[in-house]
Amino acid sequence: MKPLSLTVNGKTVTASVEPRLNLADFLRDHQLLTGTHIGCEHGVCGACTLIVNGEPARSCIALAVACDGAEVRTIEDLDEDPVAIRLRAAFTAEHGLQCGYCTPGILVTARDIVLRLPDADADRIRLELSGNLCRCTGYAGIVRAIERVLRERPVVDAPKKVPIAERKIAAPAPPATAAAPVRAAAPVSASPDSTLRQTITIALPPDRIWAAVKDPTLVASCVPGVTLAPSSSAENLAGEMAVAFGPLRARFAGTATVRYDDAAQSGTIRGEGRDSATGTRLRTDAEFRVSEHARGSKIDLTAAYALQGPLAQFSRGALVQALAGELCREVARNLEARLTGGAAAPPQPAKFSAGAFLLGVIWRRLKALFGAG
Ligand code: FES
Ligand code: FES
Repeated sequence: MKPLSLTVNGKTVTASVEPRLNLADFLRDHQLLTGTHIGCEHGVCGACTLIVNGEPARSCIALAVACDGAEVRTIEDLDEDPVAIRLRAAFTAEHGLQCGYCTPGILVTARDIVLRLPDADADRIRLELSGNLCRCTGYAGIVRAIERVLRERPVVDAPKKVPIAERKIAAPAPPATAAAPVRAAAPVSASPDSTLRQTITIALPPDRIWAAVKDPTLVASCVPGVTLAPSSSAENLAGEMAVAFGPLRARFAGTATVRYDDAAQSGTIRGEGRDSATGTRLRTDAEFRVSEHARGSKIDLTAAYALQGPLAQFSRGALVQALAGELCREVARNLEARLTGGAAAPPQPAKFSAGAFLLGVIWRRLKALFGAG
């Protein structure tokens, strides 16, 4: 058991809890604050969203002990909150709820949108709500309700911003800049659902591929959407990756530390990035190895990853595996073209179009299913 002391809805709460107890269960079972709902328990549906240190957080994937010292506000604490009052009225007027199961989490996110994005339009509201799933409605009433509150300005209750250094739970990494020092990211714990295993083959000898792998400028030029900062070296990378998923856009800025073992022609990558528009944070711990293959060489890649924030709903294992497979094959094709065609190889697009890749995956699976040539 671990001692725990935190502020819940303005009151200091102390307890002794199992280290594995999540915040949602602590609030519901120990504090009887059952307004926080639990749906997926995987950080996907957003039903358990509440406020930790002034910002929305998923309580099903936050350990209670990790919130030691934090200030937690649940939906029960928003009864008298001026923005929440207006949101509740707007949800009623615009028919923004049916069964109500998702509603506490959606109200917390909606309140954050109203406070943080006073100029948000319907598209932006939908993007911000992408981490909250509602199984009953088509979201139209929810979006209209938030738009209604935004139209009825002014917003009176500006969010209290807690400096990153004072936060008790994991803070997002700052965006990378050319001068930003590269620091080691925290290790990512591997689980079968969040581990990628990919093998790509290239028709060139292993020594040639190993030399290429150690050239970050060359590798980055083969990955769609990646821009490397000029400060990058073979061991310390900084840069950005732009990703488009249909209408959603993300630009992950981050850093990575790479270690190489020349004798074994293998290495490790530890990195993290953050999309400043959505606050989505990605961390990865990867190992790679170059070896001989009938085609010439193969690169085996194993990567544990953790995605937190609104875009985490796209981190379901099968979806990510399919995308990663397509991305790796694209990188292999580009690397082969670069190494054999030099400057004649085509430049990479400015963003990684995940939606287009997925359509390709679906199309090939359908063709396989129906036996089309
Ligand atoms: Fe926490 Fe679904 S229950 S995100
Ligand atoms: Fe039923 Fe959203 S209102 S799940």
